Amino acid sequence: MDDGTLRPTSLAEYVGQQRLKEKLAVYLEAARTRREALDHVLLYGPPGLGKTTLAHIIAAELGVGLRVTSGPAIEKPGDLAAILTNALEEGDVLFIDEIHRLGRVAEEHLYPAMEDYKIDIVLGQGPAARTIRLELPRFTLVGATTRPGLITGPLRSRFGIIEHLEYYRDEELAEGVERDARLLGLGIDVEAALEIGRRARGTMRIAKRLLRRVRDFAEVAGEQRVGLARTRTALDRLGIDDQGLDRRDRAILRAVVERFAGGPVGLDTLATAVGEDRGTLEEVHEPYLIQRGLLQRTSRGRVATEATYRHLGLPVAAPAGSLFDEGEAP
Ligand SMILES: Nc1ncnc2c1ncn2[C@@H]1O[C@H](COP(=O)(O)OP(=O)(O)OP(=O)(O)O)[C@@H](O)[C@H]1O
Ligand SMILES: [Mg+2]
Repeated sequence: MDDGTLRPTSLAEYVGQQRLKEKLAVYLEAARTRREALDHVLLYGPPGLGKTTLAHIIAAELGVGLRVTSGPAIEKPGDLAAILTNALEEGDVLFIDEIHRLGRVAEEHLYPAMEDYKIDIVLGQGPAARTIRLELPRFTLVGATTRPGLITGPLRSRFGIIEHLEYYRDEELAEGVERDARLLGLGIDVEAALEIGRRARGTMRIAKRLLRRVRDFAEVAGEQRVGLARTRTALDRLGIDDQGLDRRDRAILRAVVERFAGGPVGLDTLATAVGEDRGTLEEVHEPYLIQRGLLQRTSRGRVATEATYRHLGLPVAAPAGSLFDEGEAP
């Protein structure tokens, strides 16, 4: 899952997410001074914004151990018990990625573990089975999810700290790019870093990936330093447009406009039309398109906007009963 990266290891190195960082710094400091485990933390937000990175940073800042697992890896209550009773020490962080995919039964066993640091395990089977209750060290659960809507109420309510990660501003992405360039020993112009930031759809992972690709182009061209012109041509070659949309994004918009007359079109129908899996469409592509005003989510389905047509360089269609105002169509 790691992108072969230069993950920041302290809060100070973690770019952006200012509000979240400020709050977290207080909670970490308080937990440290009280010598208590930090309250359980739920981090949610679109992929690639730094949830996993933040979980690592929390453990590092607390100076405690970190155990990493994921929702799908914990199917049976036994899996959970094994993790919680093995090698977890007082104050440690247990990171559960994709926590929305935790099995129902395992989830119920997690409740008392989170609340009272106890877990019930069943020994044996059938009539001879008995339950024993194990004491656990006080630990901090950090859960991450891209799908907060799938977290059950009871689980959600057991987190003391619930935080949303936000899309990064272009300048913040540029800062992340410059940091990685430095660590890679690569010179990059400010405008070049900003151009990558502008086209990285608010996502740190994408900014860092684009940097690596741009570096490839620059190196092959025999350039010692990454400048704006090279960055632009490289990103164009990669099919990343000026709003950061890639070919898939544009294919989705095109489908809504050309095959469904601008919508509304249901998510499943749209997914089939572009040969994309529903989850990816909903979690990866759609949030950014919606944020950019290039797609609207309505109760009847996905709908193109005036901006969609403009972005695709198509005349703005205004069918009867259209959602659009009478703008100046290009
Ligand atoms: N605030 C940040 N500052 C610097 N680098 C960051 C920041 N956030 C994320 N990154 C980098 O971006 C990449 C993606 O981050 P990460 O894996 O933590 O995202 P995620 O939210 O866990 O994504 P997913 O939902 O796909 O698991 C990593 O290489 C990480 O080092
Ligand atoms: Mg992650």
